Amino acid sequence: MGISSNKKNIVDFRQMKQKGEKIVWITSYDYPTASFAEKAGVDMILVGDSLGMCIYGYESTVPVTMDQCIVHSECVRRAAPNTFIIGDMPFMSYQRSPEDAVVNAGRFYQDAGVDAIKLEGGERVVPQVRAILDAGMVVCGHIGLTPQSTGQFGGYKAQGRTAESGADMVKDAVALANAGAQLLLLEAVTPPVAKYITELLDIPVYSIGAGIDCDGQLLIVSDLIGEFQAFTPKFVKKYANVAEVMTNAIAAYADEVRSGAFPADEHTYKMKKGEYERFCELAKQYK
Ligand code: KIV
Repeated sequence: MGISSNKKNIVDFRQMKQKGEKIVWITSYDYPTASFAEKAGVDMILVGDSLGMCIYGYESTVPVTMDQCIVHSECVRRAAPNTFIIGDMPFMSYQRSPEDAVVNAGRFYQDAGVDAIKLEGGERVVPQVRAILDAGMVVCGHIGLTPQSTGQFGGYKAQGRTAESGADMVKDAVALANAGAQLLLLEAVTPPVAKYITELLDIPVYSIGAGIDCDGQLLIVSDLIGEFQAFTPKFVKKYANVAEVMTNAIAAYADEVRSGAFPADEHTYKMKKGEYERFCELAKQYK
């Protein structure tokens, strides 16, 4: 991995907030996608536990394991050595105790070389946040719609629609920032609440479905390229239709195999001159 000079860090992100420069963040789970993301110049990559749904086809993020997150974080790290990478703590990797949280956050750092970890929850995860910070790691908080606990919200629902729930979210945001979280993500939060939190806190505040006023934006790569098919949240903008491109390419290949158009002469290897006759002679003995 080595020391890399042009990789942004939390000081850069804080300065970008102060200057009003928007920070670009996407998820990525594999080598090719992460290398495209770095080439495209994103500021940050999240190896989200959304990989459970986007890569493994689970119905939620709950079954995702630490081992899966580590393997995918390693791929992304190799592909994007000059990008700030955040590992996402999966369900039950930190909820039980601050000790579990430190051990598992440490695995992301030691095994996958991430630059920060993200965990879901507000006030209730403050002990975990403090413990991870005390071990010298960087923490990104995540509040609003937190996918690991959608059961408690009655599904994937926007947060901060009432004054009380908005105020609760401010309380959680302040608790995380006071505990030392250096980055904060708001998911599916109403824009007035997101704006209030962004202006209140010194740390960079990111939106995934929380409107324009945050310091940066995050989208799930499988949504933005039009690959994930199960559902599309309201806040997603699709910038491509990779599902259609891939389906058409595979269907064209299937047609050509069946018709005999593939492989053509240019897709095959040639024997050296004069070898075919010798080969027939030699091969005869095995008939
Ligand atoms: O896992 C993930 O990609 C996330 C986003 C939904 C914020 O946590």
